[in-house]
Amino acid sequence: MDSMALHDEIDSFFDSAPPLKDAAKITDNLKKFIESNFPVSGEGKGRRVVCVTSGGTTVPLEQRCVRYIDNFSSGNRGAASTEYFIKAGYAVIFLYRRGTCQPYCRSLPDDPLLECFEFADELDVQVRKPYSEAVKGAIRNHHAAVSSGLLLKLPFTTIFEYLQMLRIIAISMRSLGPQAMFYLAAAVSDFYVPWKSMAEHKIQSASGPLDMRLMQVPKMLSVLRMEWTPMAFCISFKLETDSKILLEKASIALKKYKMHSVVANELLTRKEEVTVVTTDQNILVQRDKTRVDSDVEDPLIGLLVDKHSTYIKESST
Ligand code: PMT
Repeated sequence: MDSMALHDEIDSFFDSAPPLKDAAKITDNLKKFIESNFPVSGEGKGRRVVCVTSGGTTVPLEQRCVRYIDNFSSGNRGAASTEYFIKAGYAVIFLYRRGTCQPYCRSLPDDPLLECFEFADELDVQVRKPYSEAVKGAIRNHHAAVSSGLLLKLPFTTIFEYLQMLRIIAISMRSLGPQAMFYLAAAVSDFYVPWKSMAEHKIQSASGPLDMRLMQVPKMLSVLRMEWTPMAFCISFKLETDSKILLEKASIALKKYKMHSVVANELLTRKEEVTVVTTDQNILVQRDKTRVDSDVEDPLIGLLVDKHSTYIKESST
């Protein structure tokens, strides 16, 4: 597709999207967050800032939405990666799907409120012993990251919210130059129903089988990379279920969208290993299998932080 046609598709996507609620407040919070980590008066020096996207986007089928199409992602990858980025000294803008896994909460059970707490007596509630360390750790680390201004959490549900927020974040991060990073782990819908052609009310099943035409969501990766934040270090993900096509598809995405690296993962083994695809090599990254509590995000973020350091050095020469 030529660049004019892509821009037309992108314009038509944003024009058809319902306006983002709280856009002014989000922009303001981002401005404050970025300025506190990368002061304008700091002569180009400050903390590196990464935008981590996490969880899947939904595609509503009705304006007063009862039904929607969803993209699979538990948010575990994004949440774990956020913890390691903060540990490595980054400030993180965590753009996440409401209700998915949160940083520092990975070791909590699925229903923390009901499983971690019990009545101490008739009135007071206490943490149940087996969960005591996990709950204390989650609260301590999460509050420390937010209150010290290292973690800004922005929730989305729909594809419309996700892409509008990604654009606002990218434009806000432009001033960071090469110190900015995008780590796009969210599972983003490929098809959508334009808002204006969407049924307002619940689609009635009595009308028979549903016949619906979905438009293709334009890939925003190339505009993010070339226009919204041209100096940022960009990592995208490629998820496949067929290992035979995974690396080739990742390599095509790397070139097509001019990403700095593409993290290729297979659905079934995504917690054990990923391959970081770059222009000159493919690097297999695996979880340390000798430790039960290890995860693949630990070595993955270590590798990407090193690559980002090299990129910053090369950009300044
Ligand atoms: O959350 P977990 O359960 O831990 O799982 C993690 C994960 C498997 C979701 C994650 O590791 C992952 O692979 N995320 C990307 C999944 C995906 O949507 O892949 P894709 O091949 O459809 O998209 C590739 C890239 O294009 C993504 O970086 C996406 O942000 C981007 N994209 C996709 C569609 C679209 N319309 N526009 C985009 O920009």
